[in-house]
Amino acid sequence: MVDDALARSFESIGADYDRYRPGFPDLAAEVIIPAAVRSVLDLGAGTGKFTELLTGRAARVLAVEPSEAMLGVLRQKLPAVDAMNGSAERIPIPDGSVDVVTVAQAFHWFDREPACREIGRVLAPAGVLGLLWNRSDPTCGWDRACHRIAHPAVGDSDATTSSAADELPGFEFVRHETVRWRERLSRTVYVRRWATVSSFLVADEVRRAEMLDAVETVLDASDETRGREVLDLPQVTDVFVYRRR
Ligand SMILES: C[S@@+](CC[C@H](N)C(=O)[O-])C[C@H]1O[C@@H](n2cnc3c(N)ncnc32)[C@H](O)[C@@H]1O
Repeated sequence: MVDDALARSFESIGADYDRYRPGFPDLAAEVIIPAAVRSVLDLGAGTGKFTELLTGRAARVLAVEPSEAMLGVLRQKLPAVDAMNGSAERIPIPDGSVDVVTVAQAFHWFDREPACREIGRVLAPAGVLGLLWNRSDPTCGWDRACHRIAHPAVGDSDATTSSAADELPGFEFVRHETVRWRERLSRTVYVRRWATVSSFLVADEVRRAEMLDAVETVLDASDETRGREVLDLPQVTDVFVYRRR
């Protein structure tokens, strides 16, 4: 069951999300679209962090996103993308009009049954659905500790990611790839990144301050981060590819 308040928390940010959140490796886009296609829709596109990897892979790139704050940034960054306000449950494009639908870091916010129906409706016959998530590398203790601060209910498992491997109504599972990559970022950006996650956005001032203090404490405690202005963060991107039945 999707928590509506958490799902809508992204209505309050745009520029900060774009500034502080990680992007995605190009290989993740290649797994979903190995050869150029006519059209691709990035659903729950946010500020376009994954959309920008699609522009060289399709003649037409569309983006659908419910948050105007996020869409505003996407439109400024990627003027050639056809960006629309909408949701996974109500996609404002005609039946069978795209070859590929991608969903980066957002499928867990969708109401699964109606969203799968809508995605199936807008995809061409045998069209491809690609779902992807960045997640923390289980070998990186300090990043895992920060994840537990922001997502105590998830703990050490990757609930959102693993739920993607389930059967999706109307789709046939094709493949799962894991892409490992590294990100070098300043400590400031890393700390501010935590201020863009949904649990932080819906928290009150006191809880927000506690969460950021706890992140700073983790960074001061680890030998890999203490006293460093630039952090070397291992990242894992899980990509799940499906085909419309
Ligand atoms: C964590 S952000 C990911 C944004 C972008 N795909 C990225 O990877 O940077 C989740 C996005 O899903 C959007 N979202 C939430 N509920 C949605 C829904 N029902 N349909 C479409 N998008 C939704 C949010 O507005 C937000 O932009």
